[in-house]
Amino acid sequence: MSEYSVVFENVSKSFGETKVLHDLSFGIHEGKITTVLGFSGAGKTTLMKHILGLALPSSGEVKVLGKVINKLGEMDLREFRRNFGMVFQYAALFDFLTSFENVAFPIREFTKMSEEDIREKVLSLLDSVGISREAAFRLPSELSGGMRKRVGLARGLALDPHIMLYDEPTSGLDPITTHMVYDLMKETHLSNQSRGFTSIIISHDIHATLKYSDYIVFMEKGKVVEHSDVATFKKSENPVIRRFLEL
Ligand SMILES: Nc1ncnc2c1ncn2[C@@H]1O[C@H](COP(=O)(O)OP(=O)(O)OP(=O)(O)O)[C@@H](O)[C@H]1O
Ligand SMILES: [Mg+2]
Repeated sequence: MSEYSVVFENVSKSFGETKVLHDLSFGIHEGKITTVLGFSGAGKTTLMKHILGLALPSSGEVKVLGKVINKLGEMDLREFRRNFGMVFQYAALFDFLTSFENVAFPIREFTKMSEEDIREKVLSLLDSVGISREAAFRLPSELSGGMRKRVGLARGLALDPHIMLYDEPTSGLDPITTHMVYDLMKETHLSNQSRGFTSIIISHDIHATLKYSDYIVFMEKGKVVEHSDVATFKKSENPVIRRFLEL
């Protein structure tokens, strides 16, 4: 097993004239929680898209679970994405489907599991993120923001991914619900850790990050300016990071 589940090697990305990622080289530790931090526009979401193969580098290579992802064809890439679970900023549930059907969706799409097995799997996933039977059969519009995030998390876990990616999973939530969501991400991580499960979180929330992460990748203007464990990060003398830490 490699030490890293994701490796960036000299990755640069430009959109037209604008260079958004500048020669990134770093690895994301397998089995750990890594948070990507940085001010708005630093390139965090773009970095995440490169991990998923939703954006391709202008130069350099992105290796995920030992495969060079920018060399996979569309079909292989689609299959390869089964390794990922994703939770996006606004939960992005299908609003015409119940919680149950939202979680069942990727299973129906990608597997030939029987209806009975799907039911058991979906209800157990929803239960593990604290969604009751009753809420399982409601529409997203009938759930609170925190509950929608939980359903989003359950859906992200539906195909037993190796890597979970969260892009600002707590934006728009109050501080208490934010901590509940972080607790849930941590629990999810720990209960899957034995199989090398890697969690990658994009966040603005410095306090939650320091509490819940193992490693920090700090981005500034398209560059990784610090990549270290949390204890080392807290002692960073980089003035931008100091400013971030003092928020
Ligand atoms: N498809 C695109 N075309 C052109 N420019 C883009 C594209 N995607 C991102 N950018 C630019 O790349 C830069 C980084 O954007 P990105 O979304 O990665 O930042 P971010 O760190 O996720 O910011 P935020 O915290 O606000 O979500 C921005 O200047 C953005 O305008
Ligand atoms: Mg972003």
